Amino acid sequence: MKLRNLTATALAMFLAAAPVAAQNENVSTETEAEKAQRMEWFSQAKFGVFIHWGIYAVKGVSESWSFYNSYLPYEEYMDQCKGFTAANYDPKAWVQLIKESGAKYTVITTKHHDGVALWDTKVGDLSIKKCTPAAKDVLTPFVNEVRKQKLHLGLYYSLLDWSRDDYPNDTRNTTRYAIKDDPKRWDSFCKFNFGQMEELSKQYKPDLWWFDGDWEQDAETWRSSEIVKLLRSYSPKCIINSRIAGYGDYDTPEQGVPVVRPDSKYWELCMTMNDSWGFQHTDTNYKTPHMLLRTYVDCLSNGGNLLLDIGPKEDGTIPEEQIAILKEFGRWNKKHAEAIYNTRAGIPAEHFQGYTSLNKAGDILYLYLPYKPNGPIEIKGLMNKVNRIWVVGNGAMLNYKVYNKNYWNDIPGNLYIDVPDQVLDPQITVIAVLLDGPCKLYRGAGKVQTSN
Ligand code: GLC
Repeated sequence: MKLRNLTATALAMFLAAAPVAAQNENVSTETEAEKAQRMEWFSQAKFGVFIHWGIYAVKGVSESWSFYNSYLPYEEYMDQCKGFTAANYDPKAWVQLIKESGAKYTVITTKHHDGVALWDTKVGDLSIKKCTPAAKDVLTPFVNEVRKQKLHLGLYYSLLDWSRDDYPNDTRNTTRYAIKDDPKRWDSFCKFNFGQMEELSKQYKPDLWWFDGDWEQDAETWRSSEIVKLLRSYSPKCIINSRIAGYGDYDTPEQGVPVVRPDSKYWELCMTMNDSWGFQHTDTNYKTPHMLLRTYVDCLSNGGNLLLDIGPKEDGTIPEEQIAILKEFGRWNKKHAEAIYNTRAGIPAEHFQGYTSLNKAGDILYLYLPYKPNGPIEIKGLMNKVNRIWVVGNGAMLNYKVYNKNYWNDIPGNLYIDVPDQVLDPQITVIAVLLDGPCKLYRGAGKVQTSN
């Protein structure tokens, strides 16, 4: 386990105590309805692709953390600059692949905690253009393609920068200075940080800002409210993730799928395909497309998005395994589009053994089956009359029957649906249940028979 995780957990607990809405009041007078409108594209997007690309792909070590945790000396880490060529970088093909996967947005690391900028920053000296044989701005062509191919653009930006002399934290065993002892030095860092964020805002006008590294300082120290003001002055409708010490629009659980439905209305699970964010030669521990799709429908059924990560190599090629996974997402998303993009969280887990979602009107219940049933599948507690049941992306109508519905009380019976082998998807089968109106559920504990 990473050392940082401990601190992050402690900080998350602290932040949980400070309501996001209350803190946001300082920077916005937005109503809930206005926020819902601003968040609309994001809540319908469902699937996004995260990209971790940086000099860490050269040796295939963990992004920034490898020197922070002293797995290798800082100098050796930075020496990877010499091997970053971007020689086969094809931003058009990257974006095509992302688009084909069914993703509606993509988030790219413009700068990780190591401080190496993907764009041609004028505010600092560390960039792919200035420090590597690639010698060019690799962000702008990507952004141009994202715009051309009509995806929403997210920029990952690390608030902390372990390479800067004016940043207080260095590696896990050393700190350069304490902010209270040298506030001018911290001012200088803030000037730099605001400068970079302004460059990115001005040049790319992102739809989404994906911050990281906020756990090292508090909101006041980062000047979070000023940051949000700055970003909104360039992109008034931009969405901001939660890693800005309490000032964000949505939650970002990482790697572990939430077990109970998160409290926040908007959330996104970010996850790696293997165990690494960036490219690592030694990491062959890939999850199967089935596992990842299962995680995806888990998110859908709880009203969240999945942001699935890829880690391109130093030359810009995307590893074969990652391409294959994105292609399988593409096949599955295309086939089941009607049961994905316009849905919202499904019914409580007690009603069905599998994952569910509802269409916007609430009168189509989608069932996601990550398994091959041994008999008819069952829905409990459904009060509605069923009008029709079909297999999404296949069209076959399914037979169904209600058992245990008694005339002397209002408790609905159990709905059984036959799912023959011929209609099964190789990964996850999706079934649509059309109801006679918005889904109504019986949530009681049953009753004793009073008539017969
Ligand atoms: C964690 C990792 C970091 C990665 C990020 C993406 O903070 O430590 O390296 O970029 O998650 O969610």
